[in-house]
Amino acid sequence: MKNVFKSQLSVLRQRKRISQEVLAQKLFVSRQSVSKWENGDAEPDIDKLISLSDIFAVDLDFLLAGKQRTDDLILQLQHVSKSFQKPVLKDVNLSVYGRDRIALLGGNGSGKTTIVNLILGLLQPDEGIVSQNFKPQEDLSVMPQENMLIESLRVHEHIALSAQIKRQYSPTLVTDMLAKFKLQQQSKTLVSQLSGGQKRRLSLLISLIRPSKLLVLDEPTVGMDLESIDFFWDYLDHVGGSVVTITHDFNQIDKYFTSVVLLKDGVIAAKESVATIHSKNQTIEQWYRIANKTGSEKQ
Ligand SMILES: Nc1ncnc2c1ncn2[C@@H]1O[C@H](COP(=O)(O)OP(=O)(O)OP(=O)(O)O)[C@@H](O)[C@H]1O
Ligand SMILES: [Mg+2]
Repeated sequence: MKNVFKSQLSVLRQRKRISQEVLAQKLFVSRQSVSKWENGDAEPDIDKLISLSDIFAVDLDFLLAGKQRTDDLILQLQHVSKSFQKPVLKDVNLSVYGRDRIALLGGNGSGKTTIVNLILGLLQPDEGIVSQNFKPQEDLSVMPQENMLIESLRVHEHIALSAQIKRQYSPTLVTDMLAKFKLQQQSKTLVSQLSGGQKRRLSLLISLIRPSKLLVLDEPTVGMDLESIDFFWDYLDHVGGSVVTITHDFNQIDKYFTSVVLLKDGVIAAKESVATIHSKNQTIEQWYRIANKTGSEKQ
């Protein structure tokens, strides 16, 4: 068994907010057994592994080795290049599987938003292929880096309109979403009169009106206050489907994501599962700093 299991187990357990005690009860084992598994001092038998994959709703391959099933491929970028005045993306290869939570990292101007625009079909690659194994109209939700809001609408009108476009409209949906995203007091405010952080929350709310197979978030927490940032990550933790997020919020990357990719010099210079990074006793920030310097981690 590859040694990513122990960290995979603790990441999945913390993500589901299940204590070692509760997990032990579900599996009819002692808490010490769970603790030994997470420390790498013992391994569960196959029955318990199957129960664990049920509890966390992940495949055994993913639980044991962080591997995803190929038939679960949602999105693939193959040998993608894109130039504006100069080359930005030279040869980008990226695969997104069901339930992946990928943090896309890279310096300013490295081409992260360009990748998002290619995924959305707002840009076409000069060379290479972007294959979407989903219906973009129904299965894709986005929170762009620049808010795409209609400033002349009132907040509740905007939510209603976006919900209608996504065929999710009901009056209770509007009030529920306003309450969840703490925008009730701004319900009748014109979007143009919202603060920067409130606009970001509205943008997030709109991207989450409908459950989707793939959610793409481009620097979602920039401009949010601490309370909104905490709320954001907590909320996102309960969202199903695959998520690709561009973020520099390193405090959260360790908790939330399954893998990280680093875009540098027009290619995916490094890609690693969070469980593997943790199994080497590194934080994602440490991994990022090293990979960004050398760009030579394995892909
Ligand atoms: N429509 C465009 N026309 C010309 N150049 C562009 C266009 N879009 C992006 N670029 C250029 O491509 C490069 C990558 O831009 P991109 O927005 O993808 O970077 P980024 O990684 O998202 O940066 P940031 O972290 O600042 O958001 C930049 O040099 C930018 O100036
Ligand atoms: Mg960007």
